[in-house]
Amino acid sequence: MSASNNAQGEQAVTYIAQSGGPIEGSVRVPGDKSISHRSIMLGALAKGTTTVEGFLEGEDALATLNAFRSMGVNIEGPEQGRVIIHGVGINGLQAPEGPLDLGNSGTSMRLLSGLLAGQSFDSELTGDGSLSTRPMRRVTVPLAQMGAEIETAEGGTPPLRIKGGAVLKGFEYDMPIASAQVKSCLLLAGLYADGETAVIEPAPTRDHTERMLRGFGYQVSVNAQRASLLGGGQLQSTEIEVPADISSAAFFMVAASICPGSDLLLEHVGINPTRIGVINILKAMGADIELLNSREVGGEPVADIRVRYAPLKGISIPEDQVPLAIDEFPVLFIAAACAEGKTVLTGAEELRVKESDRIQVMADGLKVLGVDIEPTEDGAVICGGQSIGGGEVVSHGDHRIAMAFAVAALRAGGKITIRDCANVATSFPNFIALANQVGFNLLVE
Ligand code: S3P
Repeated sequence: MSASNNAQGEQAVTYIAQSGGPIEGSVRVPGDKSISHRSIMLGALAKGTTTVEGFLEGEDALATLNAFRSMGVNIEGPEQGRVIIHGVGINGLQAPEGPLDLGNSGTSMRLLSGLLAGQSFDSELTGDGSLSTRPMRRVTVPLAQMGAEIETAEGGTPPLRIKGGAVLKGFEYDMPIASAQVKSCLLLAGLYADGETAVIEPAPTRDHTERMLRGFGYQVSVNAQRASLLGGGQLQSTEIEVPADISSAAFFMVAASICPGSDLLLEHVGINPTRIGVINILKAMGADIELLNSREVGGEPVADIRVRYAPLKGISIPEDQVPLAIDEFPVLFIAAACAEGKTVLTGAEELRVKESDRIQVMADGLKVLGVDIEPTEDGAVICGGQSIGGGEVVSHGDHRIAMAFAVAALRAGGKITIRDCANVATSFPNFIALANQVGFNLLVE
């Protein structure tokens, strides 16, 4: 592994990816990132001891875990995905000694901003180069309407300085964007608010916060796209089993779909209806995906997913699927590049403010590989089915871009060099090993 550092002082990691496949065997990808974050947050605020199995030992979820340790919560592990959280109760957090560094993790920062707005102490949230450019007014503006006092940097970006001791009032918020992070932030602030806090979403987004709050014995009402709770209650510790992350499984779903002869089983994957856009979109493109042994584990639906090679065709992606597949577009662009005909994505402007500008960064990389892609303000038009070439692409520190190009290489005519891959460790620390185990041809330079 190269030990040189990039501009942000992070270790530079380069992948060399070559054609491969078929993609075969059985794998269990790491735990769901969204659920792992929430397990720490709610476990810390609960009364009693919460045990978590299947916790994602990736940098993002660990950033949340460390933040709660810094606020006086005794957390054992993680050890092989097992974490034991000795909850301090809803008002038991202590002032951290310094700023809480949340690394690359937007989920940590946005959810914590709501939770910390309700504390008696001041706090400061910081992050890495990418997180420091991401928009935070989407949470600070509604939190201010509840009575929170939060300062951002100019431009509404981190760091966030949150004043302790604010008196929060419940309110009803009509969210201008479909964002589970905003919804969750406000519901967490609502735990500390006077009266009812209600959030209305313009389209359904992942509902792990609502489900898990209920798992901790906290009543949440959901009526169509309105979720609400009353402040002032308590959380009771519980046991959590985190399913494998469908967002990580997605790389393998596309890999198996595009490599002739593939037959892959992805084990114990979370198939929450608010997360299965990637399955719906791939099926509409002609993918051969079967859900087996569907079951419910700790309030979340889970299945084993069998994926076999199938020729894909381009489609117009239905806009209602966009929030349900929001993290999967980098790899869906690769599926589109391998599909016969035109794929059109619209209504996905949120992709421009993820860990990187995913529309631009994917378009830049795919063009290097000779793929016909035109980025638009809110999506892209990809004319697939032509051969993919080799070349050098840059992931801009975005884990999902790096892994998406590793999938593209399976079908490429030449070697793809992928720069700036260190952040794969934020969500999928053992990606290289699992990928090579099922038929990728990947090296770390
Ligand atoms: C997440 C919500 C999504 C997603 C992110 C995780 C969450 O963000 O992109 O990776 O855990 O709530 P938005 O809700 O901002 O779209």
